[in-house]
Amino acid sequence: MSNDGFDKEAFRKLEHDGWNSLSAGYHDHWQLVTTQIVPALLERTAVGAGCQVLDVASGPGYAAGAAAALGATATGIDLAENMQALAAANFPAASFRLGDAEDLPFETGSFDVVTINFGVLHFPDADKALAETFRVLKPGGRLGFTAWQGPENCALGMAMDAIAQEGTVRVDLPKGTPVFRFADHGECASVLGAIGFTEIASTDIMLTWSLPRPDLLMETLRQATARTSALLGAQDPADLPAIKAAMTEACKPFDNGTTTDLPMPAVLTVGTKP
Ligand SMILES: C[S@@+](CC[C@H](N)C(=O)[O-])C[C@H]1O[C@@H](n2cnc3c(N)ncnc32)[C@H](O)[C@@H]1O
Repeated sequence: MSNDGFDKEAFRKLEHDGWNSLSAGYHDHWQLVTTQIVPALLERTAVGAGCQVLDVASGPGYAAGAAAALGATATGIDLAENMQALAAANFPAASFRLGDAEDLPFETGSFDVVTINFGVLHFPDADKALAETFRVLKPGGRLGFTAWQGPENCALGMAMDAIAQEGTVRVDLPKGTPVFRFADHGECASVLGAIGFTEIASTDIMLTWSLPRPDLLMETLRQATARTSALLGAQDPADLPAIKAAMTEACKPFDNGTTTDLPMPAVLTVGTKP
């Protein structure tokens, strides 16, 4: 048990196993959401031709692939074997390795830029992982990471509300890093400042998750997330129809007859290694 009050190795295993088994579903359902912020992430960290870029928790490879397309030498690293294989197939111009964000297999001072796109909330020890990014950056190097805002006005918050209302969030699953910890600009500044980063700034950016219909949120979460999928899998099957109905009702105000455009507010935080 860690001093944060949860079992880090159990959480790491939940994350690894979840993303490993749902990598294809994640790629199908999330790429149109998480890629929306990649241009801002690369622009705010000044990625360009000749930069050495590391993308941590690279998943299907979107940020590393986009950095390589700008002429950077891009490397992605991820805990899940199937994510690494998917990224390598998606973006042959970048290279992808298996590894843990909390123990990066790179020399100190190797990279001009480190990015983490919606990865920090998945690390058992996010502070340790952010300190690792500081270590592997060159002096003057830049970190950029993104996280979800919520739970208000956010599709993830709507889903959690429906589960709490019609099912239960008190299930026997490993606890983990709070999903919305890095939504708070002050928390981001405090964590990065303690590590030694300077020029720290956070910006709110609204993303949209477009589903074909309002009744698809629950099934999509089951096919394409680690923690929420496990939470849904732990519900009493008898409660699932009511949970789905509650999610559908919450999604309806965002349906325009063609698509259901759910709000996914995000925060982009940058810092520099002096
Ligand atoms: C929500 S996905 C983000 C994927 C991608 N960055 C994107 O922009 O869509 C989270 C990723 O974090 C990876 N991950 C979880 N824990 C990790 C860890 N401790 N070290 C490295 N990667 C990890 C998962 O395997 C998964 O690919």
